[in-house]
Amino acid sequence: MPTIDMNKPCGFTVFGVLGDLSRRKLIPSLYQLDRAGLLHEETRIIGIARHELSQEDFVAGIREALKTFVKPPLDPEVTDRLLGRMHYLLVNLDVPDEYKRLAEAIDQEKRVLVNYFSVAPFLFDDICRGLAHASIVTPETRVVLEKPIGRDLQTSQEINDTVARVFTEDQVYRIDHYLGKETVMNLLALRFANSIFTTNWDHNTIDHVQITVAEEVGIEGRWGYFDKSGQLRDMVQNHLMQILTLVAMEPPVNMDGDSIRNEKLKVLKALRPITADTVEEKTVRGQYSAGFIKGKPVPGYLEEKDDNPTSTTETFVAIRVDIDNWRWADVPFYLRTGKRLTTKRSEVVIYFKRLPHNIFKDSYKHLPQNKLVIRLQPDEGVEIEMLNKVPGIGKGIKLQKTMLDLSFSDAFYAEHVADAYERLILKTMIGNQSLFIRRDEVERSWKWIDSIQKAWALSNESPKTYPAGTWGPVASVALLARDGREWEE
Ligand code: BG6
Repeated sequence: MPTIDMNKPCGFTVFGVLGDLSRRKLIPSLYQLDRAGLLHEETRIIGIARHELSQEDFVAGIREALKTFVKPPLDPEVTDRLLGRMHYLLVNLDVPDEYKRLAEAIDQEKRVLVNYFSVAPFLFDDICRGLAHASIVTPETRVVLEKPIGRDLQTSQEINDTVARVFTEDQVYRIDHYLGKETVMNLLALRFANSIFTTNWDHNTIDHVQITVAEEVGIEGRWGYFDKSGQLRDMVQNHLMQILTLVAMEPPVNMDGDSIRNEKLKVLKALRPITADTVEEKTVRGQYSAGFIKGKPVPGYLEEKDDNPTSTTETFVAIRVDIDNWRWADVPFYLRTGKRLTTKRSEVVIYFKRLPHNIFKDSYKHLPQNKLVIRLQPDEGVEIEMLNKVPGIGKGIKLQKTMLDLSFSDAFYAEHVADAYERLILKTMIGNQSLFIRRDEVERSWKWIDSIQKAWALSNESPKTYPAGTWGPVASVALLARDGREWEE
């Protein structure tokens, strides 16, 4: 198996290796990277947790995770090679001396240390102190932080300060897994590699933008976390904000991490704050009640767990976002995301402006707006809706809506489509920060979200209920109808 020498050998530590994220995403991604020859021969993976576990039991657990979460067939040679790289280490995270064992396991002469914190943020402090205490933090050492980075501006600053006591910003890799998705990255290619879009991408030609991230799943046993968080913090603060910034940002001067992140930050700075005065008009909160998903009955949010039967946590959010800058003056961005919606669908829809004059009135009274639909998942692709003449003679010009439809799976057949975590893990090993969120971005995004959260807290309104399996509360339709628009369905 050829090994691509694009990364130095790493000591890749996974703190919280026995957790759900590790089993579902990190271990399968490491397998795929190994399969593709993208792990350096000398790379070692050190799984860290607080349980007594023999190396044999650890390896058996990893084998099980691979069987469960990797699409079969598993390649036995790759599996063995991966398992041969993996070592288990028991570390009580609050005992600094125990990190010395980690120092021995990595051999820093040979390897760059990349630490993946797949644990709750309250443990970051202990881990950072432990790593520093064991003297294994060098300028090359990296840390990868999983979301949530806080639940508001203040707590995110606390987390960032904690990590900053030991690591400089160029050593910190904050994950938003949407940035690892193929199609989210393709937004950059679409916008900045095609002249038709670079010249048609502002208030002169675009009427408005819709960003939908619809989920079919409910809370999936995560009530404890989710009920304290809600869809605004769980999805909008990170994933939707990232998509929004990629759609709205100015062209970066190059593909460097900071060039891209500087432009994204400018968009976040230009977001018009939503306050108590505007929150009712600009946002909709919803919570699902019992309903049907694909014909099967599912319980409502409050019935999923009886801990808090009066919870007012939102499972659906729709927002009108205004970006106060030259490019986007008077071009609203409508965001919506929710759990237990009709179907899983994430997409960006760009609605272009209507033409100033219609010369086809006889056949088409009101010319519709052209639409560019960027399907992020599933069924990834790009569509342009436009009018064409129906072929034929004798009846004048008859127009019909038609689709230019590019499906990525048809255009680029791939046996294996890389999961977001594969791309992100590889980037941490190579040391490229372009797909990770910088501190100022996270904090700016929280600042904007906090203002909505605060306005909601002051309001007497509770989230509007919507039956599971629908597109959210009726109020979300009204949000656009007030502006004379409707959601792409
Ligand atoms: C996570 C959220 O970040 O993203 C989950 O915490 C959500 O609540 C998930 O379901 C959605 O990710 P994806 O990749 O399935 O769209």
